[in-house]
Amino acid sequence: MSTAATVFKVPRLEVVMDKFVIEGGRKLSGTLPVSGAKNAVLPMMAATILVPGRCVLHRVPVLRDVSTMAWVLGVLGVDVSQEGSDLHLDSTECASVQAPYELVKTMRASIYVLGPLLARFGQAVVSLPGGCAWGPRPVNLHLSGLEAMGAKVTIEHGYIVAEASKLKGAHIHLDIASVGATAHLMMAACLADGTTVIENAAQEPELPALAAYLNALGARVEGAGTSRVVIQGVTSLRPADHTVIPDRIEAGTFIIAGAMAADELTVTDLEPAHVTALLDHLRRMGVALEVGPTWVKVRGVERPAAVDVHTDFYPGFPTDLQAQIMAMATRARGATVINEGIYHDRFTHVAELVRLGARVEVQDAMARVEGVERLSGAQVMASDLRASAALILAALVAQGQTVIGRVYHIDRGYESIEKKLNAAGAQITRVRE
Ligand code: UD1
Repeated sequence: MSTAATVFKVPRLEVVMDKFVIEGGRKLSGTLPVSGAKNAVLPMMAATILVPGRCVLHRVPVLRDVSTMAWVLGVLGVDVSQEGSDLHLDSTECASVQAPYELVKTMRASIYVLGPLLARFGQAVVSLPGGCAWGPRPVNLHLSGLEAMGAKVTIEHGYIVAEASKLKGAHIHLDIASVGATAHLMMAACLADGTTVIENAAQEPELPALAAYLNALGARVEGAGTSRVVIQGVTSLRPADHTVIPDRIEAGTFIIAGAMAADELTVTDLEPAHVTALLDHLRRMGVALEVGPTWVKVRGVERPAAVDVHTDFYPGFPTDLQAQIMAMATRARGATVINEGIYHDRFTHVAELVRLGARVEVQDAMARVEGVERLSGAQVMASDLRASAALILAALVAQGQTVIGRVYHIDRGYESIEKKLNAAGAQITRVRE
């Protein structure tokens, strides 16, 4: 399968086998700023395929996932360049409709280009993303939604081949309130003939954020952020500039870091309403919090109360903070049961936390964490993005030195995490292999 020439200007952040060497026991204090949301910016970048012309996204984090999406778009002929936290995208010359395996396998969210390519060009050939470290992660809802809109979708040689001379508005009920399927179908429906209704839509904050961007481009999307999204198709979109929302998972990770290791830490530039489930949970664990309009002040607790966790769709406790809250639960007074309601196998961090002295047992989608007096530094391996974050949090409070291998996972989704944490008092050294 041939691809068009690569024309991206955003440097592709390579997979480098860096390690983090973390000296445990340093207290955090001061402020920790939150960057723009990875999971909001990725669909916005794909959405620019819908609109020939130059769009600028502000507050874009410098991350490997963003550079991977820029790379995918570059292969499709979109001109992408980043200046600080501004990302310029121009899809006027977008010509190719093929996203090959080599691109899609590196990041599942690359599937987002499928719907916009189909809507603009009437055809798209995008590799199936495959599984990930914690399970199969299917895309059936993305594909059945496009089929409901009149697309002919087949799987050939590992590729999704989709065709539709013109997508048509449809009534779509999602069996699962999938974030990806909701975002994907919202984008595809913008240029469809007629009205599309998505029932049982995901309600995560990244969806109203995407809708706000699509509407700034001239789309007519209503109801995003509720379980029923209505998209009235329009004939064309116009370029627009837009600002990305704060990353609620980075914010949550930093707040948990403060709850575990701070004298007093203020996490800034966030939207507190997006982390309500976490803040409620931390209060029940005995953490003192002060919440401002765009910040959360947190004081650390050495041995928090053990409070069970059940991850769920928004506004429930996010699966993307499950590993991090487990890191905190390892030092709770008593046992915590963590029920993973979204990805039943998402426990790759457990074996590594155990290497740091945690006592965790997993059975099916449930982990039982017996709080221990202390963790002790060890050599561990990052296995995915949020698992890496959990290891950093545990290492911050472990006695002695922890060495975390394969931190390229964390570079996917946290902007300069070691620099940010070091500025707040941590001692983390990045060692290039
Ligand atoms: C997004 C987030 C990811 C987060 C997840 C759940 C991005 C780029 N990633 O992933 O960080 O962990 O939401 O909050 O935004 N499912 C199906 N069929 C489908 C699609 C999903 O069965 O076609 C299932 C999944 O296996 C999972 C559940 O639905 O059990 C939720 O997944 P989904 O919301 O789609 O996650 P992503 O959008 O992939």
